[in-house]
Amino acid sequence: MSLSKDDARYLWHPFTQHGHPETAFVPIVSARGAFLYDESGSPLLDLISSWWVTTHGHSHPELIKAMAIQAAKLDQVIFAGFTHEPAVTLGRTLQQALGRRDVWKLFFSDNGSTAVEVALKMALHAQINWGYPEKKRFLAFEGGYHGDTVGAMSVGRSSGFFDPYQKLLFPVKTIDYPETWMNDPDVLHKEEKSLEALTQHLNRGDIAGMILEPLIQGASGMRMCRPTFVNHVVRLCQQAGVLVIFDEVMTGFGRTGRLFAFHHLSEVPDIVCLAKGLTAGMMPMSLTCASQGVFDAFLSTDFYRSLIHGHSFTANPIACAVANRSLSLFAEDDTLNKIKALEGVHHNALHALQKAGLAHRPRVMGGVAAFDVKHEYMPYNIEKNHWLKSMFLKSGLVLRPLGGTLYVMPPYCTSPEDLEDAYDRITPILQQVQA
Ligand SMILES: Cc1ncc(COP(=O)(O)O)c(C=O)c1O
Repeated sequence: MSLSKDDARYLWHPFTQHGHPETAFVPIVSARGAFLYDESGSPLLDLISSWWVTTHGHSHPELIKAMAIQAAKLDQVIFAGFTHEPAVTLGRTLQQALGRRDVWKLFFSDNGSTAVEVALKMALHAQINWGYPEKKRFLAFEGGYHGDTVGAMSVGRSSGFFDPYQKLLFPVKTIDYPETWMNDPDVLHKEEKSLEALTQHLNRGDIAGMILEPLIQGASGMRMCRPTFVNHVVRLCQQAGVLVIFDEVMTGFGRTGRLFAFHHLSEVPDIVCLAKGLTAGMMPMSLTCASQGVFDAFLSTDFYRSLIHGHSFTANPIACAVANRSLSLFAEDDTLNKIKALEGVHHNALHALQKAGLAHRPRVMGGVAAFDVKHEYMPYNIEKNHWLKSMFLKSGLVLRPLGGTLYVMPPYCTSPEDLEDAYDRITPILQQVQA
């Protein structure tokens, strides 16, 4: 049996240009820690955490154990009218982990897009229940990406991925995103312009909620902004009665160096979307976490004031058990300090690459490093990406540039030595790009 041949015959891959002569799929047969292994047993260092999901490492023995024990005890039960211990434990543990509010009310779904979809419905419906039906628009940042379902596409339309579906999408107001990088001289000016635009939108009084990826816009190129700016945004929105939704689908669970990106801030969002790292990258599950105030807007004897939304696999017990074990591993393994060590390696490497003229607009936050391979901005679908990806693979590295941006986001179990070694292998490839 040839995996590649049968794959080509039967399967349709995500975000993939089938038909492009250089599109290829690498059969992976196993994984452990920071490494994936191909059919020949060769290791590939997973520098993108398998689409930003893997946190403690692949096939972690403790997570496998938690999964097996739960699967043998209770695999699945409808979550309307029933509850179970793994979900309640997760609810209790996440209160502490999220912090900053007395209570977070957790609503389960299955992936980042649905967590966002739920957040949008919550925000709009809460405003209606509070007596503000005129607040029916959403605000978002240029370049934000929030997933592929229709609501998530609408608030992320400026990512440019969704042009064929424009007719399905609802109107959303967008604001320029003041992306910044190491030693960016222009950051204050960009932030002021964005805050001015935000104030103008808020003054119109028709906004239900504002959604943003706090501190790092992922899909549009790991574009970073400053915590002080995000604090201003939250304050202005909340003063105007606009609900603030933080899409922490990518930034959650340690990526920015703290457990959640909003832990870098003084302000607290009303709603937080979590997915990807929630289950350490092992099971599909997501959460939309709401403040007590948002939850209370739905308390009623009238059915139509309730959040009438749900998915078949809501709060799957096996996924909850894995999420619980993953959260306890953060403390047991001193994970945030491991991320700090990786951040140090990122900083040194990006300084050296910048000095050598190989990295432009370098930026680092926690376990995420990114830079542009050329001085000029490049479109998402640059042809060079196929070549770059295959060169990295030949060097034993899994890396997928986002347009002209190369980013490095390894699982937290990656050793600093392995990460340093990866940068040593990346450097000659970048030298070829410049040539
Ligand atoms: C910030 C953000 N939000 C939402 C999503 C969508 O998540 P999913 O792919 O699990 O639907 C992603 C996916 O990359 C994301 O990065």
